[in-house]
Amino acid sequence: MKHKVVVRSTLKDIRNFTNIPELRKGVIEEAPETPVNGNFAVNSTANFLHPSVQYLKIKQVAEINRNTRAYIFEPNTARGTAKLAYFRPGQCISITLQVGNAIVTRPYTLCSSPLRSVDDEYMIIVSKKPDGFASQFIVNNWRKGTEITASAPFGNFHYQPLRDSKSIVAVCDYQGISAFLSMAESIADKTLNADLTLIYSARKQNEAIMSQRLDELAETTANFRVIYVFSDEHVFKCERGFVTKSLIEKYAPISKYSLFVCGSNTLYNRIIPQIAELKLENKFIRFGLNGQIDNPENLSDFPPEAIGKTFLCKVIKNGKFSKTVPCSSTESLLVALEREGIETPSLCRSGECGFCRAKLLKGNVFIPSGIDMRRLADSSHGIIHPCCSFPMSDMTLVIN
Ligand code: FES
Repeated sequence: MKHKVVVRSTLKDIRNFTNIPELRKGVIEEAPETPVNGNFAVNSTANFLHPSVQYLKIKQVAEINRNTRAYIFEPNTARGTAKLAYFRPGQCISITLQVGNAIVTRPYTLCSSPLRSVDDEYMIIVSKKPDGFASQFIVNNWRKGTEITASAPFGNFHYQPLRDSKSIVAVCDYQGISAFLSMAESIADKTLNADLTLIYSARKQNEAIMSQRLDELAETTANFRVIYVFSDEHVFKCERGFVTKSLIEKYAPISKYSLFVCGSNTLYNRIIPQIAELKLENKFIRFGLNGQIDNPENLSDFPPEAIGKTFLCKVIKNGKFSKTVPCSSTESLLVALEREGIETPSLCRSGECGFCRAKLLKGNVFIPSGIDMRRLADSSHGIIHPCCSFPMSDMTLVIN
């Protein structure tokens, strides 16, 4: 550095401080007029950690059961991805799929340890849902060698030492197991310094996918244990019934702990009243992504007069009129746009990340209470998240 400022903690510091504007002016005057196109280390690191897109290839497919597969990805170097971005256990990637004319995205939580991403492997688990448009497509079509387009890892559902207690109690069902499998793997390989007690809820033992791997990890890792809770059958050394306040207290440490919950809507609906009784501080309660709202008409605040109606949405994309799209009041605007083949930015599909933000120029939408995570400034300027907004009138929408 050409001009050094030495701190002496004396009056000379004040004189040096008053000299700074003069020094700065000199540096500015000496600077070249053309922009410096240097390859700065900070930019390379940022690009590596947060690439705008990752091109992946399926390296291996493992059948977990009739409806569930584990997919291991590697970088698709031929398409320009040389290394996989690092992530935190609990984070997701968003996969882009072209199904017929529709271009859709789905977030999937990475279930491997971040350490495996250093060796260029990600793993996700996909279970075919009976009405799951994307999950059925994936399980029926993805094979070894299939090329995938994915986002960088994202999401806040990971251990944050400044906020969370080092002791974590996690509750999940099979739909939320990926986040905690990733945490358990990371505790085992020492990339995560935390203690994890996992309470895994299922109807029957054979529904608790990945239990064999969890048992192996629990046997060899001092600060990870797993407790199974089966509602429909007795299993030796496992709990019988549902996850309740007293069951959580039975296994939670006496001292402070963070409670992480991830799974199906059925699990959330059952567990939320139980959590309220635990009287934990809010910062110690963490929920995974809710996922897309599929039947908003079942929500208590959905306007009943809108059920069964279809509205027209005029879409302006990149400053130009794109298309007028019919939207049912019970499907999110994001789903309607994707179905019509309009490429729309999205990541979490749960109203949380703000990646899908769009401007509602005209018209009304319904946003379920508890899902609206827009900043105050956004909501007062007509910005909506199409992934969790449902049309209530004809409208004009501006997207990127
Ligand atoms: S995709 Fe994240 S808020 Fe809509």
